[in-house]
Amino acid sequence: MNEQDCVITSAPGKMIILGEHSVVYGKPAVALAIDRRFYCKVQRSQDFVVNGYRAMAGSHPHIRSILHDNRAGNITVSAVTDIPTSSGLGSSAALSSSIALAVRRLFERDVTEEAIANDAFNAEWFAQGRASPIDTSTCTHGRGVAINNPVDMGKALWKISKGGNTWNVTDIDVPDMTFVVGYTGIYAPTGPIVEKVRKFKERNGFAKDIIDEMGLIALLGLNAIRRGDKEDLGEIMTRNHKLLSILGVSCKELNKLVNASLPHSYGAKLTGSGGGGSMIALTDEPEAVCEAIRLHGGTPIVVHTETEGVRVENNVPNNGTFPLEL
Ligand code: PMV
Repeated sequence: MNEQDCVITSAPGKMIILGEHSVVYGKPAVALAIDRRFYCKVQRSQDFVVNGYRAMAGSHPHIRSILHDNRAGNITVSAVTDIPTSSGLGSSAALSSSIALAVRRLFERDVTEEAIANDAFNAEWFAQGRASPIDTSTCTHGRGVAINNPVDMGKALWKISKGGNTWNVTDIDVPDMTFVVGYTGIYAPTGPIVEKVRKFKERNGFAKDIIDEMGLIALLGLNAIRRGDKEDLGEIMTRNHKLLSILGVSCKELNKLVNASLPHSYGAKLTGSGGGGSMIALTDEPEAVCEAIRLHGGTPIVVHTETEGVRVENNVPNNGTFPLEL
């Protein structure tokens, strides 16, 4: 096979450290890339095939959206990842970014980060309904990303508008920090939870106040990151968790893991859409947090930040033996 007919790409997962849900309404938020990745081997083909099976009508909406936006022909995709799916760690955003890079290369389209971030965001919007570009921008750019932060903080990356909201995406410097993710093992797709918040916000002025407050504390947290003040950041994360609980997106398993982590952490909160999925704790004692999470029924994963964004790879690692999920 000709080299131009096949490309391997990867993109990192992410964790939202402040501002999920409120970011959907254009409020500030902060997310960091993590050292787990989604790998895709993509080639042009007669049929649309994913992990060995011909795609059924309506399946794989993220990939379909990217093919449509790039006026591309059919592809065969083999995908592997060590990011647990529907866990709040950005597996669908990482898939979308890596497919967008691969499709753009195979069909000779523009391969700027901004173009990839746009394709990936459109794919999330198409697949999940209302969405913000925080996940897809973080998985595309890597390292740390802030949304709608005041312009003097961080380098501007791109601006995305949709559904009446505008998101200014900036790069942020990320100090060395250790987080432990606690995965509940509960499957919690994003779309229905985002829809639940939308309905709550429509019916109830109180929900709107909570969303506004989450935006304000995300800015305080961004400042704490800039100062490298983990105590302040941790406290703000825990406050954010309380607001997310009031908004109705936590669950008893997440609350249990957050409470169990707090004695060994600067702070802890759910990450991503909630309802299951994962929580994160900012800590200098990862072993103690891992133990507490295990004791309370969760699966701990120690994650490191400072991770590179979407890129072309030479090989799929581990001979593709990670769990295969799409
Ligand atoms: O759970 P995830 O990884 O899909 O994160 C969703 C974050 C939300 O703010 C709830 C939705 C969004 O698109 O920003």
